[in-house]
Amino acid sequence: MTQPATDRGTVVVGLQWGDEGKGKIVNYLAPLHDAVARYNGGANAGHSVVVKGERFALHLIPSGILHAGKPAIIGNGVVVDPQWLLEEIAKLTARNVSTASLIISERAHVVMPWHKDEDDLRERWLRAAAESSSGEPIGTTKRGIGPCYADKHQRSTAIRVVDLLRPDELRAKLATIVPIKNATLGALASALPAAHRPATIPSYSIDDVARQCESWGSQLRPMIADASARLMDILDAGGKILFEGANATLLDVDHGTYPFVTSSSTIALGAPAGTGVPMHAIGKVLGIMKAYSTRVGSGPMPTELLRTDADHALAHHIRERGREYGTTTGRPRRVGWLDLEVVRYSARLNGVTEVAVMLLDVLEGLEELRVCTGYTMDSKPARFNPDASWLARATPVYTTLRGFTGDVSNARTFAELPIEARSYIELIQRHLATPVRYVSVGPDNAQTIQVN
Ligand code: GDP
Ligand code: IMO
Ligand code: MG
Repeated sequence: MTQPATDRGTVVVGLQWGDEGKGKIVNYLAPLHDAVARYNGGANAGHSVVVKGERFALHLIPSGILHAGKPAIIGNGVVVDPQWLLEEIAKLTARNVSTASLIISERAHVVMPWHKDEDDLRERWLRAAAESSSGEPIGTTKRGIGPCYADKHQRSTAIRVVDLLRPDELRAKLATIVPIKNATLGALASALPAAHRPATIPSYSIDDVARQCESWGSQLRPMIADASARLMDILDAGGKILFEGANATLLDVDHGTYPFVTSSSTIALGAPAGTGVPMHAIGKVLGIMKAYSTRVGSGPMPTELLRTDADHALAHHIRERGREYGTTTGRPRRVGWLDLEVVRYSARLNGVTEVAVMLLDVLEGLEELRVCTGYTMDSKPARFNPDASWLARATPVYTTLRGFTGDVSNARTFAELPIEARSYIELIQRHLATPVRYVSVGPDNAQTIQVN
């Protein structure tokens, strides 16, 4: 029996509503690790990485793939859309990025076309209901994430990656699943109010789906493996693993702003379950935060800049400077002041050991910076609660700091940052009682300050 593999894993986890810059940091830290593993989410994620001025957008494939030969592992906790994955592989190959080191867990679940249909239909129902009540759609990415995770837990209508390698067994399963899916989609679509009904009602044939799955299986076969065993082997050999979180803490299915969340465990604790390694393999949790707040889709965001014309103008300014448009759907991201109460909640929940503050350069040139450092409820100080209706009623309390100007994106040490920018980072560190280890001042790897 080998020694237990202790402390050699680092989890990279988003502390806000996603798009904090996880992809950049994973790519930056990948050379110090022996494998990079995704543990949750699916093609709803969009991780942008800039290498030598070239921008790559990764959705299902771990950002570590950009380092040739580094095992890039899609863990069992991820939901895999094979069509999307094959296209992502083809796009990388066309840009001379090898995907030979990609490993897909045989236990990951498959996003089938009907999951995307159902995602779309449910959003249509919510939109239709919103016309007559106060409800609103979740604003999902329509990548089939929720319905696929629902089937995973439902079990009887789920398909795992390993099933793609067993066409005869899969065909027998499909004989049960396809009629159930056709009945469900048919009912969901045809009962919709006419104005919201899709042009065609989705329906599938067992033969077509079986052929499609067989084709996916034969193309993906060389990459499909017992990913958990591979990761354990790496740990046993003394290797280090970087776990790449997707989505973010406030989108966690249990601890986020439910129901305006995604359907997976996005937090650091999702990493062992979503890849199949023991808990004690995780030694560090690196929390990634933006220097301000963004959110895509619906749900509460108390510091959002939307009350006055000046708010809208400022949000627009930040959105353009920070390229705040969804990597996956292209939707403009909602923009707000930094909510340190959100980040403190997330840092505690994840057991964050160090923090990376990203996109600091975007705030350069603003006269003053506001930061939410507390909440009140009914005029009394209140502890942050991620409950969506609590947050919709809570009032943020702001601390205002002087803004900074200067050539922030060329700073390479903490000392080179303007004093007001340093004060901003110091406020973050004090409020979180956690060291800020990295400050990012641009999308490129070189634009990363290590804070000692
Ligand atoms: P992720 O989903 O957490 O990986 O983040 P995204 O890739 O969706 O969004 C982050 C965006 O910010 C990407 O366009 C990155 O290239 C960019 N980015 C990352 N760090 C910085 C930074 O420090 N400054 C600027 N200006 N852009 C950054
Ligand atoms: P990365 O990894 C930002 C949001 C969607 C929607 C909600 C549910 O790039 O940070 P889903 O399709 O998952 O059912 O959508 O969650 N969302 C994200 N927002 N970044 C992401 O990932 C996200 N993944 C999901 O916009 O509001
Ligand atoms: Mg993103």
